[in-house]
Amino acid sequence: MDIMEIVTSILICIWVFIPAMVPNSTAVICGGGTPVDFGKTLKGKRILGDGKTWRGLIGGTLSGVILGLLMIGLSSLFGSTDYWGFGPFWDNVGILFCLSFGALFGDMLGSFIKRRLDIGRGKKAPLLDQYDFVFGSFLITTIFYPNWVYSTFIAGTNWIGLIVMLVLVWFIHRSVSILGYKMGLKNEPW
Ligand code: CTP
Ligand code: MG
Repeated sequence: MDIMEIVTSILICIWVFIPAMVPNSTAVICGGGTPVDFGKTLKGKRILGDGKTWRGLIGGTLSGVILGLLMIGLSSLFGSTDYWGFGPFWDNVGILFCLSFGALFGDMLGSFIKRRLDIGRGKKAPLLDQYDFVFGSFLITTIFYPNWVYSTFIAGTNWIGLIVMLVLVWFIHRSVSILGYKMGLKNEPW
């Protein structure tokens, strides 16, 4: 294990996870309108709540996929033949979709759990608020592209990159939430 190998692993893990990090923020911007659960309840409690909307889900998913495609275009400008880690070309869109949709799926799973625990929309749920999207993204991507997930996040020294990325996600999530709150885009700073 040499230091350059570890640094490369860290950079790869952060880079390929960007399409999973943006959808939650774009959902805040394009969200609104019809809720995903259509206002329905389960045992008297909202299934997901008004904070999860179709516009947020669709806009957020598209933003992650489009950004990912731009990242692939950018990396090919620099002559990279491996698309900076998104695997064989024809799997790229699928992987990007899984990362992006998975993030919002995890976000919905988080809201589902919050509602079951009687935690109202927008109320704080430590760890769940910061990591539900990471869980969802890895869950969906691993179901459809297990080999890509293994070779990108586990193999060689990449598992070290994964751990560093997961710690970084917490700080990024906190910073972006506070920023969104100060800019008046988000109702709460978490
Ligand atoms: N949003 C959306 N659709 C989504 C995800 C998010 O419209 N699929 C928008 C909503 O306006 C939401 C905001 O982004 O209020 C912030 O997202 P988040 O913090 O995940 O939702 P909360 O309102 O905090 O609701 P919850 O308690 O269910 O997490
Ligand atoms: Mg919230």
